[in-house]
Amino acid sequence: MNEKDVKGMRAGSSQAHGRIEWPGACFWGGDALVRAIRAAGPRLRKPLVVTDAGVWTALGPFVEAALTDVRGLQWQVYGGVVSNPSLAQVRDALRAGRESGSESLIAVGGGSVMDVAKVTLACMASGLEVEALQTLEGQAWLEAAATPDDPLFLAVPTTSGTGSESSSAALIQGDDGRKRLFRSTRTRPALVALQPELTLGLPFGPTAQGGFDAVLHALGAWVNTDPCPVGKAMALQALRLCMKALPAVLAAPASLQARADMQMGAYMAGVAIGMNKVDAVHAMCTPLESRVHMAHAEVLGPVFSVVSRYTAETAARPYAEAARALGVADTGDERRDALALIGAVEEQATRARISLRFPDLCLSPEDAESLAVQARQSASMPLNPRALAHEEIKSLYLQMAA
Ligand SMILES: [Fe+2]
Repeated sequence: MNEKDVKGMRAGSSQAHGRIEWPGACFWGGDALVRAIRAAGPRLRKPLVVTDAGVWTALGPFVEAALTDVRGLQWQVYGGVVSNPSLAQVRDALRAGRESGSESLIAVGGGSVMDVAKVTLACMASGLEVEALQTLEGQAWLEAAATPDDPLFLAVPTTSGTGSESSSAALIQGDDGRKRLFRSTRTRPALVALQPELTLGLPFGPTAQGGFDAVLHALGAWVNTDPCPVGKAMALQALRLCMKALPAVLAAPASLQARADMQMGAYMAGVAIGMNKVDAVHAMCTPLESRVHMAHAEVLGPVFSVVSRYTAETAARPYAEAARALGVADTGDERRDALALIGAVEEQATRARISLRFPDLCLSPEDAESLAVQARQSASMPLNPRALAHEEIKSLYLQMAA
């Protein structure tokens, strides 16, 4: 190899590059929980179980039966998580964990439970209070690589949607009412138990809304400009699975196969967004959620309809490629195929009883300005397949309110 070759290889560092972080071990299918607990071995010491009251009433006996199999294991339950959780619940869970000397963590529930558990874990492991996580010291801990001494974290999802069990993000409402994103691969569950039976009792609303959220995670990770090829492969397969599983699970909620597909689709979409992030749809949804006090998926519906149609005007290709891969359309016309895919996703929203318009959203130009400023802080915004300038984001918000 001569000097010219070496220089040529060095020039390669300007190519697209990245680091692929796989989430922890995932046990799926029958007996997933028992198998995950066995795999945890001695690292499952005095676990703090983070859950919510409804989930624990319905599924606590099943989880406790699995924990009882571990000889001598003692656990503490914190069941105070509510939807759209706030830092108050993190503080309560942390207190419960510290008082009982917990050395590991099990989250049993949906996305809110996972999110509270992640931030609680960060405090338990770092010894920091929740306020300190946002200081330089806290950020340094969150950004550092996981160590073998970090407490074991086992996630047992009971909903299929957020993908929080496989993603590195946690969304928690701060004391000022605004949602805060905590991102750390260190608080991503080391073990996941995907046992579809645990989602059989999920009512129509959370099943439908979670399924639609998962569809948009998969699509966002597929269409965005992040080049990570592994995330792209995961996103497309997740989209395929979610688009098939959502109507199936809504038509036959007692079907274990449909529940299993929905659970795996949501998990894979979570893995994809952990690698590739999402797009402007999610970036613009988060600030609006703090304002309208509607469920995540109910905000996603109208935001998706406006933002994806605008994006596809000049960046139809990734939507069209998905349309062809999924057999939704293949007309030879990129724009038409893209719109067919967007239409198919909107049909999923309708099936899930999610409106594509806000019933009574009122926004002044100042409101839109403030929302646009917040949306631009999202790491997913610059990855949207159509680059959106500040004024365009503002105008899209105003369009949603029209
Ligand atoms: Fe989402």
